[in-house]
Amino acid sequence: MSTKTVFVKTFGCQMNVYDSERMSEALALSPGGYREVDAPDNADVIILNTCHIREKAAEKVYSDLGRMREIKVERASRGEQTIIAVTGCVAQAEGEEIIRRQPAVDLVVGPQSYHLLPDLIRRGGGNARFVETSFPEDEKFDRLPPRPTSRHPARTAFLTVQEGCDKFCTFCVVPYTRGAEYSRSVSDIVAEAEGLVARGVVEITLLGQNVNAYHGTGADGRPATLSGLIDRLASIDGLQRLRYTTSHPRDMGADLIAAHRDQPKLMPFLHLPVQSGADRILAAMNRKHTADDYRALVARIRDARPDIALSTDIIVGFPGETEDEFKRTLELVAETGFAMAFSFKYSPRPGTPAAKLGEQIPDEVASERLTRLQGLLNAQASAFNAGLIGRTVPVLFERPGRRSGQVMGRSPYLQVVNADGADALIGQIVPVEITESSPHQLVGVLAA
Ligand code: 5AD
Ligand code: SF4
Repeated sequence: MSTKTVFVKTFGCQMNVYDSERMSEALALSPGGYREVDAPDNADVIILNTCHIREKAAEKVYSDLGRMREIKVERASRGEQTIIAVTGCVAQAEGEEIIRRQPAVDLVVGPQSYHLLPDLIRRGGGNARFVETSFPEDEKFDRLPPRPTSRHPARTAFLTVQEGCDKFCTFCVVPYTRGAEYSRSVSDIVAEAEGLVARGVVEITLLGQNVNAYHGTGADGRPATLSGLIDRLASIDGLQRLRYTTSHPRDMGADLIAAHRDQPKLMPFLHLPVQSGADRILAAMNRKHTADDYRALVARIRDARPDIALSTDIIVGFPGETEDEFKRTLELVAETGFAMAFSFKYSPRPGTPAAKLGEQIPDEVASERLTRLQGLLNAQASAFNAGLIGRTVPVLFERPGRRSGQVMGRSPYLQVVNADGADALIGQIVPVEITESSPHQLVGVLAA
């Protein structure tokens, strides 16, 4: 077995989690082979797979790089070489600037080029520095080595089916860091899903920045839809649960809504970012829908699947947002009732149209709005979780719980559920009666 090791730290969204998994698999299979380790201190290769969505996420990378530099210097004093690679969206957005700011970095590789990583690491053995941030014509999924056949480390897995975004919301860097919308073919995705199921995976979450805009080539050579892809994947024996994220309200087609009624393997949970409840702000964000469009869409989704749990993303303090407009957001949240939500203060991102707007909102105002919004969202999450007490729900157990003798799993609504039980339950879907709830998790007992 190889003695070379790689440490991968993932920032940001689930797409980065997927990319990190593919990078470490590719390195494990590359000549020389790298074993993944869970601390950087003694790793031969350190990869920071980064996120550029908000300033905080991007700045965190530089403070981490300072620490990685110390490790590199310390190992060098023992005659050991360390290669530091920055991948992901900060790599794409900042390119060579990263090496200028932190000269200990050896490699900068954008999200569309990480299939080149094993080769770049091999060549990076000298003093050479590489910056690879092109959007290559030949697609990375075709260039990555086949995935391993060994047992998957978890019973749940992410699978990227779509990347990039053509929506150009005015606050968002994604269209610049991940490029234009691209969908993988149905046959590619089915083959990858079958491979994951053969490795012990029972739940797959389909990923895309704009996953419901999926339009990959189907078996008949024509563009497929996300609902068509879901139905095809649902026919894989042994695959028990399907989820998808993240959706745009504009691409929530009637067929996808119907799939939430008709496809039993599709879980009753939908992450549907609304961003704001004020029409003027939604227009300034270039969301191309109104608050009432969103309300009507939610009504149609709930009509198809009454128990669906909704989750959302909201930005407060977008340039020019008035107190009155912020109240429209609170109203929309109060009416809709979210099971879960992510809320953020607006963060101006270089190169995006909103960053050039006047009327940036003072930080104290945005912070105060965020606190009020999160108070409401936490109360809704608590109420949603409390509503499960006394009910028995099928839980897919994923891993040992925090306390020994406990196992941790998820309800169909994506809630974390802890129950007393043996590790042998991991990978199984078991009825659990919910006995306790808190804003972030449930506790239950295995139903007889
Ligand atoms: N500032 C704050 N939040 C942002 N998001 C995206 N860009 C920004 C930004 N510039 C949020 C959106 C998106 C989520 C992934 O991150 O709510 O849905
Ligand atoms: Fe960003 Fe908007 Fe595209 Fe989502 S839909 S990735 S928020 S530009």
